[in-house]
Amino acid sequence: MPIDFSKYIASYPDFPEPGILFRDISPLLENGEVYRAATDKIVDFAKERNVQMIVGPEARGFIVGCPVAYKLGVGFSPARKKNKLPGETIEESYGLEYGKSSLYLRTNAVQPGQRVLVTDDLLATGGTIDATIRLVEKLGGIVVGTAFLIELSDFKGREKVKDYDFFTLLKY
Ligand code: PRP
Ligand code: ADE
Repeated sequence: MPIDFSKYIASYPDFPEPGILFRDISPLLENGEVYRAATDKIVDFAKERNVQMIVGPEARGFIVGCPVAYKLGVGFSPARKKNKLPGETIEESYGLEYGKSSLYLRTNAVQPGQRVLVTDDLLATGGTIDATIRLVEKLGGIVVGTAFLIELSDFKGREKVKDYDFFTLLKY
């Protein structure tokens, strides 16, 4: 029987602030079989694109990207928030459904010409993934795909990633 992944997403109205309907991936992560099946779908997407490196934004992009990197035997580099990464980094700023922020990536994270998959748990406005893509491209990486567990289509984030191959497990 195929897994109905939507049964493993919890919805919380007014979190973290009034007016936001928070889609929580915790139940999916807490079920080993379901987490693995979701990861395997992204692994298949990545294999078709000969991915050589994965970059995901803090914090939930790590949860999605790291098991895919492990399965493929490729590296993972975290795009992190301010004052988290030591050494030489590059920065990109972006707007969020709730707030504004910056992401940083190590200047050695990606080699020029490397085929990179960017991962996150959820696509809303697309600000986070757009900043992550810009970081990878600044270093000369080739973004060969973007992969998510959830797309919130009302926020039109797809427009920000329209030039890239796209995978999502679920759409709301
Ligand atoms: C959330 C989510 C995505 C981003 C999606 O992260 O995990 O990264 O927002 O929104 P967007 O498409 O409008 O940019 P958040 O910034 O809340 O950080 P967290 O993962 O550390 O909780
Ligand atoms: N990140 C941005 N918007 C979100 C939402 N509605 N639910 C969970 N994570 C989010």
